[in-house]
Amino acid sequence: MKPSKPVKAVKDAVKAALTSQVPGSPGSAPATLEEPTTPREPLPPKGEQGAPETRSPTGAETGSPAPVNSQQGAYLTTATGVRLRDTDHSLKAGPRGPSLLQDHHLREKITHFDHERIPERVVHARGTGAHGTFTAYGTAESVTRAAFLKKNAETEVFVRFSTVLGSRGSADTVRDTRGFAVKFYTDEGNFDLVGNNIPVFFIQDAIKFPDVIHAAKPHPDREIPQAQSAHDTFWDFVSLHTEAQHHTIWNMSDRGIPRSYRTMEGFGVHTFRLVNEAGATTLVKFHWKPKLGVHSLTWEEAQLLSGIDPDFHRRDLYDAIEAGAFPEYELGIQVFPDTAEEAFAGIDLLDPTKIVPEELAPVQPIGKLVIDRTPTNFFAESEQVAFHLGTMPPGIDVTNDPLLQGRLFSYVDTQLSRLGGPNYNQIPINRPHAPVNDMLRDGFHQHAVHGGVAPYRPNSLDGGNPFTAEDGFVDVPVIVAEAPKIRQNPASFDDHYSQARLFWLSMTPVEQEHIISAYTFELAKCYEQAIKERQLQALANIDPVLCRQVATGLGLPEPKPTVPLADVTPSPVLSQIGHTWPTDGRTIGIVVDPDGDVDAALKVREVVFGAGMTPLLIAPHGGMVGGAPVQRTFATARSVEFDAILLAGAPIPAPDARPARDAKAGRPAATVDPRVLLLVDECWRHAKTIGAWGDGLTVLQEAGVTGTPGVVTATSGEAVFGEIQVLLGAHRVWERFPALVA
Ligand code: HEM
Repeated sequence: MKPSKPVKAVKDAVKAALTSQVPGSPGSAPATLEEPTTPREPLPPKGEQGAPETRSPTGAETGSPAPVNSQQGAYLTTATGVRLRDTDHSLKAGPRGPSLLQDHHLREKITHFDHERIPERVVHARGTGAHGTFTAYGTAESVTRAAFLKKNAETEVFVRFSTVLGSRGSADTVRDTRGFAVKFYTDEGNFDLVGNNIPVFFIQDAIKFPDVIHAAKPHPDREIPQAQSAHDTFWDFVSLHTEAQHHTIWNMSDRGIPRSYRTMEGFGVHTFRLVNEAGATTLVKFHWKPKLGVHSLTWEEAQLLSGIDPDFHRRDLYDAIEAGAFPEYELGIQVFPDTAEEAFAGIDLLDPTKIVPEELAPVQPIGKLVIDRTPTNFFAESEQVAFHLGTMPPGIDVTNDPLLQGRLFSYVDTQLSRLGGPNYNQIPINRPHAPVNDMLRDGFHQHAVHGGVAPYRPNSLDGGNPFTAEDGFVDVPVIVAEAPKIRQNPASFDDHYSQARLFWLSMTPVEQEHIISAYTFELAKCYEQAIKERQLQALANIDPVLCRQVATGLGLPEPKPTVPLADVTPSPVLSQIGHTWPTDGRTIGIVVDPDGDVDAALKVREVVFGAGMTPLLIAPHGGMVGGAPVQRTFATARSVEFDAILLAGAPIPAPDARPARDAKAGRPAATVDPRVLLLVDECWRHAKTIGAWGDGLTVLQEAGVTGTPGVVTATSGEAVFGEIQVLLGAHRVWERFPALVA
């Protein structure tokens, strides 16, 4: 594999970054030691920060710079712009007296604070947004008239990644499905593509959504466990509603614990209907493909990160953008003829628990998304963004997928209460970049000042405005077959196991090992025997080897299948192992010994930067080493934040390498700081690459990993890193742990 090209912005940033801090410093200017006292205007946003375009509530361009929406002037004011002299003392009857009701500043300040919180999302509460640009290739022009998909059209977007189950403050790295929601601000109105990183869903009909979410959320009595599926109510539901088994096996696979939002696929899940200029229709499924490939954490890393850095994915996304390693994804479509059966290769396209293997219908790239700006204000942007499946420009339409149909109702409904009324589309992050003339009036938090007297149609008093448009959105006049009104699924929805089996058989042995251990872990966390047995029965209907291995781990007998095992053709593209990918934006830890060859460490640091990655210097103490800032100490560093480590020395135990001071020090070691050995040990068991040269070779020896796969040694740091970079293209060194699933 060719080493990936350094990202341009990273190259530009190299010089500055080598002498300053790594991504993550809080302000756009360094803080001063003394409290600043000379009045000045607010600091500008940080270089990597974006903000919603300053459109009017009705979509008009204002031409104003983003800071018009931010705080103004040098002086502290009330919410109504009156300057204040004091905000530290309430108005009291004497220095020791009670506070006075007339203190309007105290009341305004406290009252506003008391109402700062809004309801968190009922699902996907934990999420992270960023701005980007979508550029169309023009390859979808034959199937859709949507203007933003015409060749070279550029469209601003806001993306929000999320977990499903956890509360707003929950950890990023839990085992869960991830949301991948994209708002395109197209010239013809917004388009919301509200997808997940898993191409199928738990249920086939939206009416069960409250059930699956109630089952997966914490138990209603003790409100535990937070943000995870390893509990009785979840497995109770999915083992009774076996249509969930396909989604569940994806969750139990490495897809449930992504390494980064940058290394995650996205899927629109449902089948959508596209309409071209001539009115011809096509059925499609949307896919996002990350430029960096699909990579995951190991389960132990995910667990450690939940405590060590619960914001791991959020930090990774924002740090990567700040470093100029902009996340990129290609949007693609699988294309199917729009026939009366709404099926392809025998697969029901209206069933959201089914994929169409890419080997049968290749994903055709239609455009590229580059995410390149972090939010300026998390609440205003990530929290207030409102997605809705019915937000679609002309050229895109829905299908009768019963899950999709219910979603068309749910998002608007929930946002009415979450965002406090019917005008949430006027919040800056939601404002379209197309003219809005909607006849919707008044309501809480109305930002528009509507003119005219006739918000109705037809009218003559406002000159007839607004008019309907010939080229406007048309609901495709799909024929609805004559049928009784009935609460029933089509018979094709009854197949609950064949694609779960297809997924299992498409995995490499390493991935199968991970799936076995995930099921075993989750079911072992359940208390109820009946639930474990019921889920084992479902596994028996997927694959006997999978079932047997999990049953062994649980100490339970292996049930026999109750349905014939499906005869399926595996889809190798579902596996994430066996390919190589660019390595832009990876994090490399460099252990430096201040008493060793510091120059060699700093030289390799420069090479890592130049390769478009982020090197972090790890030293026994903070401050500077050899004129370079130390970013992690042995006390603060933990292996889980690095994709690889380089050992540029063999530092002796530091003064704080004592269990009484730092439990990570463990048992005292003789020659090398025990925290460095822990780093090596964890990286090794997480199948990460490790490199060493010079004195660093001693560390490998003491850790007992010399000569094992993915442990690279050479005479110089540059040579070691060159090899590491190649290995990193495959993400992990699974050869270290031969897998044998039988
Ligand atoms: C294919 C199946 C589904 C996918 C891919 C999906 C995806 C998502 C995503 C990505 C979000 C987070 C949006 C954001 O970042 O703000 C979300 C939120 C939400 N979803 Fe779904 N979802 C699915 C099914 C459903 C169903 C069936 C319902 C209800 C019937 C539903 C109701 C909701 C609600 C109420 C929210 C919170 C929205 C808000 O408060 O703004 N979802 N969903």
